[in-house]
Amino acid sequence: MVRNRAAAAGRVLVTGGAGFLGSHLVDRLVSEGWRVLVVDNLSSGKLSRLADARRRGALTIHKVDVRSGDLAAAAARFSPDLVFHLAAQTSVAASMADPSRDADINITGGVNLLEAAVAVGVERLVFTSTGGALYGSGAALPTAEDTPLRPESPYGISKKVMEDYLHFWKQAHGLDYAVVRPANIYGPRQDPGGEAGVVAVFARACLDRTRPTIFGEGTDTRDYVYVDDVVDALMRAAEAGEGGVYNIGTGVETSTTEVFEAIARCVRFRGGAVYGPPRPGDLPHSALDCRKARRELGWQPYTSFEEGIRLTVDWFGENP
Ligand SMILES: NC(=O)c1ccc[n+]([C@@H]2O[C@H](COP(=O)([O-])OP(=O)(O)OC[C@H]3O[C@@H](n4cnc5c(N)ncnc54)[C@H](O)[C@@H]3O)[C@@H](O)[C@H]2O)c1
Repeated sequence: MVRNRAAAAGRVLVTGGAGFLGSHLVDRLVSEGWRVLVVDNLSSGKLSRLADARRRGALTIHKVDVRSGDLAAAAARFSPDLVFHLAAQTSVAASMADPSRDADINITGGVNLLEAAVAVGVERLVFTSTGGALYGSGAALPTAEDTPLRPESPYGISKKVMEDYLHFWKQAHGLDYAVVRPANIYGPRQDPGGEAGVVAVFARACLDRTRPTIFGEGTDTRDYVYVDDVVDALMRAAEAGEGGVYNIGTGVETSTTEVFEAIARCVRFRGGAVYGPPRPGDLPHSALDCRKARRELGWQPYTSFEEGIRLTVDWFGENP
């Protein structure tokens, strides 16, 4: 159903569309002929990420906070069929330091969006949850969707609560939805000042010939998935709906040291990394079992780690 709307230039609202992942999603939507409304308070989002999409397609950008009353008004004027909800406080460390701010943005803002979506007759919403911070450190690896959720940070808790709200909203108001739980996303346009984007941080540092800091011993592992592959999963999830929940990653554990070495090799950086204390809230290991997305969405990660690293490093090299 949604695919047919795309062909007929459907209307889609993207919260957090000026962010790292959001801007790549907007590129894809615009290239497929969707009319796109981005709602973003530009707290970490940047308009420059949307410059290309703005030139190429029907894109409107509103600087609006998802917690504000202006969100409903903007949604009512645009009247979207489909919503992708990406706007969030995205830092685990910030959520540990200020849990009420995390809950305000991620839960209160999310519920405000659900109210607006129902009020304007949105048919389906795709929510970007998390695969990394949701399952907790006791989960078997790679972790499947039906593993009990034991988040160990306010950020993980806020994503879990939003998944519960979506379930409730479907029962109470008929809003159809799908949930995507991405692993660690990396790629062009990620903020190298950010906390989660270790690939971006290392790429920027190695290109600038400065030694990056590895927190802990470098043996922590994560599941790194390339941004275009996550966009592809979001698009497929928009066609699935029915409350489906999908892990999106590679299933492969890569250590922080391996990430650093891959990037250093790629840019021929011969200085080593600096080691700092581990950060609270960081899990020692994480990797996602993504067989459900393969089975039900026909999705798979198309980009190898080596190719993704090369594409990312090239982009950071061209965008100092
Ligand atoms: N990057 C990852 O590795 C990763 C992994 C799993 C899940 N996610 C989720 O994917 C989504 C996008 O993450 P990202 O990496 O692109 O982060 P990002 O910080 O680049 O994007 C988030 C966007 O939301 C906007 N925003 C924040 N608070 C807002 C508010 N109150 N009102 C309106 N806009 C607001 C920011 O300005 C920014 O443009 C988030 O929901 C995040 O939790 C990211």
